[in-house]
Amino acid sequence: MFAPLDHESGVRRLLVAAGQAPSVLNTQPWRFRVAGHELVELYSDAERRLRVSDPRGRSRHVSCGAALFNLRLAVRTAGRRPMVFLLPAPEEEPDLLAAVRVGAALPATAEQRELYDLIPVRRTSRRPFFDRRIPPAVMAELRLAASREGARLVPLDRHGTADTLDYAAMAEDELSHDHDYRAELSAWTMRGALYDGVPDYAHGPHALRDPSPTRHFGRQHGAARFEERPQLSVLTTAGDRPVDWLRAGQALQRVLLVAARHGVSASFLNQPLDLRDMRRRRDPHHRRGHPQMIIRFGYGPYVSRSPRRPAAELELARA
Ligand SMILES: Cc1cc2nc3c(=O)[nH]c(=O)nc-3n(C[C@H](O)[C@H](O)[C@H](O)COP(=O)(O)O)c2cc1C
Repeated sequence: MFAPLDHESGVRRLLVAAGQAPSVLNTQPWRFRVAGHELVELYSDAERRLRVSDPRGRSRHVSCGAALFNLRLAVRTAGRRPMVFLLPAPEEEPDLLAAVRVGAALPATAEQRELYDLIPVRRTSRRPFFDRRIPPAVMAELRLAASREGARLVPLDRHGTADTLDYAAMAEDELSHDHDYRAELSAWTMRGALYDGVPDYAHGPHALRDPSPTRHFGRQHGAARFEERPQLSVLTTAGDRPVDWLRAGQALQRVLLVAARHGVSASFLNQPLDLRDMRRRRDPHHRRGHPQMIIRFGYGPYVSRSPRRPAAELELARA
């Protein structure tokens, strides 16, 4: 086993893994600082914040939490135990989201190696899924993955799904009249994205059904029939503070990697959550907690990956 921070190639391996995480509008709002041979710090990149649609920084934290999960897996599969401190200096350095200390030697489990290998395989699919239900045993594994990271994955029944699709369509409609929101969305969904943003080949087709089970980014390619019964779940956390958002992000990435292991794809319908944050609405008290991601699962075709920034750009000057 090698010490992951002893060599440039080890550092690069960690940054590449972290940088493959999903992020809101593919903003990749993370930076990393390597301090000595034992510590990596994860920072939120303030220049990549979405001022209009993410005023609280919730989605940015969720995205960084997903990158943190990949970083943990990369340390584990290098044979070391990661020790994670979330928000180690919240008053002085709120952008320092996590410190990861590379701890004692500990061989990775087969599951950790498998999930690590799936990091580049996982991708968001906004294409129609096949009319095939996810078996209860697989759903149970996804729920367990969320709970292992301190979050909850709540599968919606037929009524919950219908309500949520309506709710998402209404939110999209309201947002489409917001000039600032539209401007921010189009800045991150421009044609020909090279390193970040959602490229138009990833937008997926326009849904022939209404309400649509995918989000409209403005440049849908053609129209298609989507699955008859979309399979939606909501990822929730008990609290709604930055530390909860970071937990939600780690849970999200664990869920998505376990899904990928079963050949299950995912896309998201987060526009009601954006609207809630933008209008400073509060969630009604609910025993299931605060919604952080609305996820559509299913079996679908292979899709191309979205671009990423080069790993070298993710690293802050060494301490
Ligand atoms: C916090 C968060 C919110 C997201 N919201 C949406 C969404 O509402 N609709 C959507 O289609 N994708 C959404 N995504 C997926 C991102 O657009 C996607 O991860 C990014 O474009 C990178 O592509 P990839 O997941 O294929 O690597 C979200 C991702 C995160 C982490």
